[in-house]
Amino acid sequence: MRTQLSINGTDYDLDLDPRTTLLDALRHHLKLTGSKKGCDHGQCGACTVLLNGRRVNACLTLLCMHDGDEIVTIEGLGEPGEMSALQEAFVSEDGYQCGYCTPGQICSATAMLEEAAQGWPSHVTGDLDAAAELSDAEISERMSGNLCRCSAYPNIVRAIRKAAEGTT
Ligand code: FES
Ligand code: FES
Repeated sequence: MRTQLSINGTDYDLDLDPRTTLLDALRHHLKLTGSKKGCDHGQCGACTVLLNGRRVNACLTLLCMHDGDEIVTIEGLGEPGEMSALQEAFVSEDGYQCGYCTPGQICSATAMLEEAAQGWPSHVTGDLDAAAELSDAEISERMSGNLCRCSAYPNIVRAIRKAAEGTT
């Protein structure tokens, strides 16, 4: 089934089995292996990518559903020597151990900061009429779809807060 879409700013015209997930298309067919397969069940967030600017679990959506869409993966957010603020903050704050969850954490955090900037509340937001402050509790709640088996959570939260404050 033909699917035309943009991935990290490059246009692709893919003709794959309609059962192919977006994650398998990225990893196996395009060799964009930054996005990780942790559970393949929508449980861990390791496969998180940006779909038209919103975070999505790439293991839970089929490639053929994304004709005309724009996908950004961790490879599209930055690269050595030209990292995004979040990527730099994860390095400077030691926001990982094995690194397996890290691409998903950074993609998810990228969209999460935009959601917060647009005033989206979370489950722990107290005042729905005020701009949400990115406290540690807010960041943890908003990032709760991304698991880290190494439990690097304190440093992940600190890295995200640092990027949010623009102090990287
Ligand atoms: Fe997609 Fe775990 S691999 S959520
Ligand atoms: Fe190892 Fe998160 S750094 S799973």
